[in-house]
Amino acid sequence: MAESILSRRAFALRSAQVVLSGSLLTLVLESCAESPTAASTEGEDPAAKVAVTTLTLDLNAKENAALKKVGGAVKVNKNGVKLIVMRSTATAYTAISSTCTHNGCEVKLPDAKGVISCPCHGSKFDVTGKVTKGPAKKNLPPAKTALKGTTLTLTA
Ligand code: FES
Repeated sequence: MAESILSRRAFALRSAQVVLSGSLLTLVLESCAESPTAASTEGEDPAAKVAVTTLTLDLNAKENAALKKVGGAVKVNKNGVKLIVMRSTATAYTAISSTCTHNGCEVKLPDAKGVISCPCHGSKFDVTGKVTKGPAKKNLPPAKTALKGTTLTLTA
């Protein structure tokens, strides 16, 4: 009989240990499952999640005629991507976003001095997209360019 009581006590104790360790394990597993989600969103800039888009430009097309001479520039607005594409040398092209980093207005093409102005609040940028006058604080982001024949590929 005494052995039976001890067994019941041992059983009750063992059961309590199993329930407690199971609860603890569940808590640990739940906290581990939540960690990657919490870590992946912490400190992220929602604007930084921009899909990469590749566009092609036919340099022989009439609308791109300004790119036939060094210093020429055109605006491109395709598939939600807005860029200023410039011919920097006889064989090189550059491209930067045409969306002002201050408040999203469309900036103008570079003037004869290479100054890109925003008509909304007066920010100015150089042809590399660098801010030269505020209120914008961030540069116009660049896009990659690759020339093959008369086709310019832009990756923004
Ligand atoms: S939106 Fe360009 S300066 Fe404000």
